[in-house]
Amino acid sequence: MRLAFDVIGGKEGAVAVIEGTDKTAAKEIMERHKNVQAVFGKVGERRGEYRLYKLKLLAGKPSEVVHRESGLLFKLDPRKVYFSPRESTERQRCAELVGKKENILVLFAGAGPLAIAIAKKQPYAKVVAVEKNPAAVKYAQENVKLNRTMNVSVLKADAAKFKSKEKFDRIFMPLPEGATGFLPVVKKLVKPKGIVYLYTLSHEKTLFRDVKGLDSWKIVGQQRVLPYAPRVWKVRIDLRPI
Ligand SMILES: C[S@@+](CC[C@H](N)C(=O)[O-])C[C@H]1O[C@@H](n2cnc3c(N)ncnc32)[C@H](O)[C@@H]1O
Repeated sequence: MRLAFDVIGGKEGAVAVIEGTDKTAAKEIMERHKNVQAVFGKVGERRGEYRLYKLKLLAGKPSEVVHRESGLLFKLDPRKVYFSPRESTERQRCAELVGKKENILVLFAGAGPLAIAIAKKQPYAKVVAVEKNPAAVKYAQENVKLNRTMNVSVLKADAAKFKSKEKFDRIFMPLPEGATGFLPVVKKLVKPKGIVYLYTLSHEKTLFRDVKGLDSWKIVGQQRVLPYAPRVWKVRIDLRPI
């Protein structure tokens, strides 16, 4: 059987997520991978504000899992919160960008993986993580404790309404399907010499050139992150305010 699937979790327990709803394939995955407690099938694309897949249980018993990545632990239930194990390289890349004692804002923080990866790498940085999905906020708070990254504050808020007296050296915006619309909010939050990391989607033919709404920003970096759809990439564009 050659079937691509994501595993979220660790040796103590994991769930696998496959494309489609093949129950025979799901059972085979459970037989081969003893740590996999449940197999879900993706029914359609990620949907809604919380960016969740509709997941159909194909085999086993669903449960919360603790995902292990780069020495970090992320507890979560993939039915309730966004999480992609494929983004681990990008998380580490982002963590490398941050300097000592910087003030960092992670909007659209989910269960906290990016904020925690940054906070672990730079323990003297102050990281604020903003998320709207209450289930994700709960996991992010638990994950901060699990990883002993007490330099992360998790706030349940709508990024569109987020206000702060302090300005930030770096702001991460990992919401490819709409982060551009939040740039006016972010403009008020970033320091004059700060950097904003915007995630968005870009077609292979016009890579990086087809991103609109960046008129009052200077592009200072570009990163292809992951394939998103046929000939469409999830990309990161690094911006300084003008
Ligand atoms: C693509 S996911 C990224 C999550 C996380 N950064 C990660 O990498 O696992 C985007 C997240 O933004 C959250 N979100 C969407 N709109 C939001 C808003 N207006 N304010 C705050 N969070 C929002 C969703 O609930 C979701 O958890």
